[in-house]
Amino acid sequence: MVVTGGSGDLGARVVRVLSGRGHDAVAASRRTGVDLSTGEGLDAALAGADAVVHAASSPTRPQTVDVAGAARIGASLRHLGSPAHVVSISIVGCDRVPYPYYRAKVDSETALERSGVPTTIVRATQFHPLAALLGSALRLGSTSFSLGDMRSQPVDIDWVAERLADHATGTAPSGFVRAPELAGPTAYGAREISALVAAHDGRTPPRVVRIPPVGEVMRGFSQGRNLPGPGAETGGRSFEDWLAAQPRPLPRRMHSPP
Ligand SMILES: NC(=O)c1ccc[n+]([C@@H]2O[C@H](COP(=O)([O-])OP(=O)(O)OC[C@H]3O[C@@H](n4cnc5c(N)ncnc54)[C@H](OP(=O)(O)O)[C@@H]3O)[C@@H](O)[C@H]2O)c1
Repeated sequence: MVVTGGSGDLGARVVRVLSGRGHDAVAASRRTGVDLSTGEGLDAALAGADAVVHAASSPTRPQTVDVAGAARIGASLRHLGSPAHVVSISIVGCDRVPYPYYRAKVDSETALERSGVPTTIVRATQFHPLAALLGSALRLGSTSFSLGDMRSQPVDIDWVAERLADHATGTAPSGFVRAPELAGPTAYGAREISALVAAHDGRTPPRVVRIPPVGEVMRGFSQGRNLPGPGAETGGRSFEDWLAAQPRPLPRRMHSPP
């Protein structure tokens, strides 16, 4: 099995889960000689794979890496005559919030659908570190800012990795399918996330000032278009349980190495 972005936060976890279950899981990214923005090393990496988990991404170059990369994965598998099942991670609400990175996630899904290879799209909500960052980074002294009425239902990245591995090792679909969205057990407002992070850090909860949503992107988040739909699968650690396992104070970074 091949995991694109297998050196990233999510991909490294997928490699670890698959290996722990006894599968031969290989990470593919630039540091292993595979560049999705050019296709370099891709055919060699995908040859013989029975499944590909696509978790590579570049928020700064999403059209080149996420979108063109997805198209290249599909083309490479067709070129190789491979029946491999592609399991691709995407984001809940990416089709409802016109944020450029989210648009690229939609385009990436479409690229795989057009390629005709067996594909399962798995959309997940924000991972806990990103929710924590949003709840603590928008802070000035003892005041924190809420972008409109933004809410999120953050999810445990380890559980998402397990579910991706389940799809990759399960029965492959004959065409393009969407798995149920993945989300954590609870939705929180910005005020709740800020208060939880402050309590974790040993600070008094900040005063939260609401910034009125301006533009479609902010309105999209403020209206909860990033929240999962009714058919979503919920699971994994709650935000509180994840937070309790983090260093104090919470480091101001988005990445959470496995
Ligand atoms: N973070 C969230 O809250 C969240 C929520 C839902 C879904 N997701 C999705 O989850 C996926 C993984 O996110 P993450 O946080 O694990 O990302 P990440 O830690 O930033 O990892 C990105 C991976 O992509 C690889 N990569 C970047 N450019 C590449 C290129 N040109 N060719 C090949 N590989 C390349 C990187 O490896 P090299 O540097 O070695 O190339 C790295 O392994 C993304 O698709 C993201 O949209 C994230």
